Amino acid sequence: MSTLIPEVTLNDGTSLPSIGLGTYKLKGNTGANSIISAIHQGYRLIDSAYNYENEGTVGEAVRRSSVPRQHLRITSKLPGRYHTYEKAVTTIQESLYRSNLDYYDLYLIHWPNPRQDQYVEAWQALIDAKKWGLIRSIGVCNFLPEHIERLEKETSVKPSINQIELHPYFNQAEQRKWHEAHQIITESWSPLARANDVLHNETLKNIANRHHKTVSQVILRWHFQLGAISIPKSASPERQLENISIFDFSLDDSEMNQITTLSRPDGRINNQDPATYEEF
Ligand SMILES: NC(=O)c1ccc[n+]([C@@H]2O[C@H](COP(=O)([O-])OP(=O)(O)OC[C@H]3O[C@@H](n4cnc5c(N)ncnc54)[C@H](OP(=O)(O)O)[C@@H]3O)[C@@H](O)[C@H]2O)c1
Repeated sequence: MSTLIPEVTLNDGTSLPSIGLGTYKLKGNTGANSIISAIHQGYRLIDSAYNYENEGTVGEAVRRSSVPRQHLRITSKLPGRYHTYEKAVTTIQESLYRSNLDYYDLYLIHWPNPRQDQYVEAWQALIDAKKWGLIRSIGVCNFLPEHIERLEKETSVKPSINQIELHPYFNQAEQRKWHEAHQIITESWSPLARANDVLHNETLKNIANRHHKTVSQVILRWHFQLGAISIPKSASPERQLENISIFDFSLDDSEMNQITTLSRPDGRINNQDPATYEEF
């Protein structure tokens, strides 16, 4: 069984599927089996990170799946403790070694860590690793416009992607508008807000009932119509399939607006504001 997923074109001319698999906490043989199940159901974009300690699991799933490597898009991310140029280069090489892959399709800086103030050095390492063929596309996560402006000013290279916290309770309207004006694709992390109380929201339940869909499907369809790539994590084959079965219905303007009104200034899951929060 496989579902066809539309693609999004990046500012570097490459493309990515508009929905992928999050892999936080998918580890070891069990994790690899979950990722293989997702690939067999049609997922082609897999998100991972050095700090998830599962690059090996992802690489193993890629080799054990029946889909050729060139049809998959594999992401990893650089941790905050390795932002100096030399450390960033070594970490990208170590990421490849851990996954046993020849290249990553997408490599992102995981957090800007503005107080540490080394993210421009890290970005230069990503730019060079792309030139050396280790990475196909480069981007960032959790960067505010001021951080991205600095990257562009100091290196003349703009990220293709900014992966940010985005779900109905924190819809990032201004940041998304800024990305759009700068030809940067928004990628949504925790797109289901970790599937906690959001799944019981009455507005979302009403919209879901109208379309004979689940609340998760309505939320993921909303991301798609916003133009954002979402990466819901699920270990369950049933929920993996549910999450990509969103291309046979659409939300009208009124439904999109109703979902927009659910956003709250304090809607972040763990209050991780990139202006102050740092992760290493
Ligand atoms: N760049 C960053 O700083 C950053 C930060 C956080 C996350 N991420 C990435 O974003 C990915 C997704 O975010 P996330 O894992 O935090 O949260 P999420 O994808 O919003 O939610 C995952 C949770 O929802 C459950 N779930 C998935 N589909 C469901 C469905 N259809 N119905 C009911 N429950 C469902 C999953 O349980 P089951 O597995 O049991 O289905 C899991 O507990 C991560 O895995 C990671 O790759 C990046």
